[in-house]
Amino acid sequence: MTSTQREVEVSYDVSNEFFRLWLDERMHYTSAVFEHENETLEQAQVNKSRILYDFAELSPEKTVLDIGCGWGANLEYVVQRGIKEAHGITLSSAQFEEINARKIPNLKAWCVDYRDYKPAEKYDGLISIEMIDHLCSPDQANKGMAIEIYREYFRKTAEWVKPGGYFGFQAILRNRVPRTRADIADLKFTADVIFPGGLNPRLEELVAAVNPYWEIVELKTRRTHYGKTTAEWLRRMRMHEAHIRKTWGDQVFDDYDRYLSTCVRAFANHWSSDVQMKLRHIDV
Ligand SMILES: C[S@@+](CC[C@H](N)C(=O)[O-])C[C@H]1O[C@@H](n2cnc3c(N)ncnc32)[C@H](O)[C@@H]1O
Repeated sequence: MTSTQREVEVSYDVSNEFFRLWLDERMHYTSAVFEHENETLEQAQVNKSRILYDFAELSPEKTVLDIGCGWGANLEYVVQRGIKEAHGITLSSAQFEEINARKIPNLKAWCVDYRDYKPAEKYDGLISIEMIDHLCSPDQANKGMAIEIYREYFRKTAEWVKPGGYFGFQAILRNRVPRTRADIADLKFTADVIFPGGLNPRLEELVAAVNPYWEIVELKTRRTHYGKTTAEWLRRMRMHEAHIRKTWGDQVFDDYDRYLSTCVRAFANHWSSDVQMKLRHIDV
């Protein structure tokens, strides 16, 4: 099982207004890319989308699918940059409502599991930003099924692009295991309470799983960028502490404070990382 729709909704359906308080203005819920010392989170999120647009080799006459498109932040960038048609899929009904409320031109979205999605036509390019961590549960990983599950995702997505099409792919990663019980408990809390049913892949699992469908053309790790991103989310969320406690309750504030603080330490200590890959569909 991947994260079920119910589990995905635990992660993303607290309230669109809650996430709007502390994410950037477009509501990217994934690592930004800081290219200069004093860049804002907003600018760094644009950098991330620009890199993935270029990895997918998009241009105004092309079509693209964003798999696990969140509240539509990256799609909004893609449309602004120029695209013939942009499609997105998410498993969260709150995100789907937000995308539709934005009324972005040349954009269609669906609330559907990627396993059930059947595109009418093949796309020129694909983008997916930190969705793959919902596909393999900790139990499945313990049974040795992770690579098989990720490979099925790369097989299916390869069927959705034209021959030689490109994929701008980004994933959060798990790396080292923390050494103290308190740190292990914080990571387990994040997995069980904030992202139930999911597990961050290891980089080597992804590198194995893209074969034989995709060639890795370029690969960049973004660990320190995710550290900065989550530190900024935490800083912004704390600025709204009183409002969050009053509107959504103490538990929501305390849980998100614990989760984001854990993320900051996870990236600093190499428990977690992040990767962007430029993938080219292997069509021979
Ligand atoms: C961490 S969010 C990232 C959202 C967005 N890509 C961004 O950069 O802000 C993960 C996304 O994957 C979607 N997702 C998770 N499992 C999915 C599945 N099986 N099929 C389609 N979308 C899924 C969630 O609904 C959510 O939109």
